[in-house]
Amino acid sequence: MFETPVDRADPRTPHQDLHSEQGALRGEHPGRARNPVIKVADLAWLEFEKPDLDRAEVFARDFGFAIAARTEGELWLRGTFAGSPCMVIRKGIASRFIGPAFRAAERVDLDRLARDTGGDVRDLDAPGGGKAVGLLDPSGLPVRVVHCAEQLPALPHQQPLILNFGTDHRRTNATQRPPREPSRIQRLGHVVLETPLFARTLDWYLDTLGMIVSDFLFLDGQRGRGPTMAFIRCDQGSLAVDHHTLALHLGPATGYVHSAYQVTDLDAIAAGGEYLAERGYQRSWGIGRHIQGSQLFDYWRDPDRFMLEHFADGDLFSCDLEPGWAPMSASGLAQWGPPVTRDFLGTNPSPAKLREVMTALRGDNELDPARLLGLMKAMSS
Ligand SMILES: [Fe+2]
Repeated sequence: MFETPVDRADPRTPHQDLHSEQGALRGEHPGRARNPVIKVADLAWLEFEKPDLDRAEVFARDFGFAIAARTEGELWLRGTFAGSPCMVIRKGIASRFIGPAFRAAERVDLDRLARDTGGDVRDLDAPGGGKAVGLLDPSGLPVRVVHCAEQLPALPHQQPLILNFGTDHRRTNATQRPPREPSRIQRLGHVVLETPLFARTLDWYLDTLGMIVSDFLFLDGQRGRGPTMAFIRCDQGSLAVDHHTLALHLGPATGYVHSAYQVTDLDAIAAGGEYLAERGYQRSWGIGRHIQGSQLFDYWRDPDRFMLEHFADGDLFSCDLEPGWAPMSASGLAQWGPPVTRDFLGTNPSPAKLREVMTALRGDNELDPARLLGLMKAMSS
């Protein structure tokens, strides 16, 4: 049966000002700080340590990064867009995530931040130089706020395919041949972090870096205890920015879950994915389309089992939108795509995982048996 325009309009009426099915209830977390110390403009890059930079560079090129700089001890990766690099990998004993670096909107923000947090403004150890303030978030993760002296110039972009839609014929007398090559990364999009100190860590990012929440997730039946996941964007006023630059969720571990890199379009995700699969890399989950943020996604494991995402076509929100609220569930992670994998959810049982859970349950944090059970139920529903 055909829908009438009225049919299509009706379901939207109660929520026409919201991007989500539900908003906050009275007294729930507002999702933004009244008077933050500064408002960061974006995520600048992520910092890692790895013992083998040659091996890291092979994966980086296969995944679609370009090399911004390479020395004996550092590998700086970038996308094709002008701006800052996406990632630095420093030579170290173990393979580990160090922390994120956020981009200050103005140089003077670093002074304000240093004054407020009792830190120092130091010289930045990045190509081109600049200044940085080093902080620790309440989970104990090192977070830097940086102001680069120089911007990287743009590199040649991967062009989006010209598509034919119905009677809208944009490509005639020409074939469609997306190249099976690394999907060229355009830029860093977001990082997802796990913490057993979710509420404190969330408030720190809102109060200190002026970030604002796009969507909250809560555990079914435990909404009154507050959210357990937040998708957080930068506040750039009327300028629409990525739905999430940072996502935080409650869990037994502290630190990196995954990071996401924008590519041109769905064909770039798919053809670049074929390229990775042919080289024996492990796909974690994909291809699909998320709900919170709406991105097309494809998740991969690097040789050290860090998860990285190719994404395209994500939502862009200005500061005007209020946070949405939804129950957390595995089936609520995607609008379409293959069933979510245990690898993506991190629910593969292992002695190390069990130890992590037991330690977290005994610690002074926000994880307790009811919440752990709620998380386990969410991951299987
Ligand atoms: Fe993601």
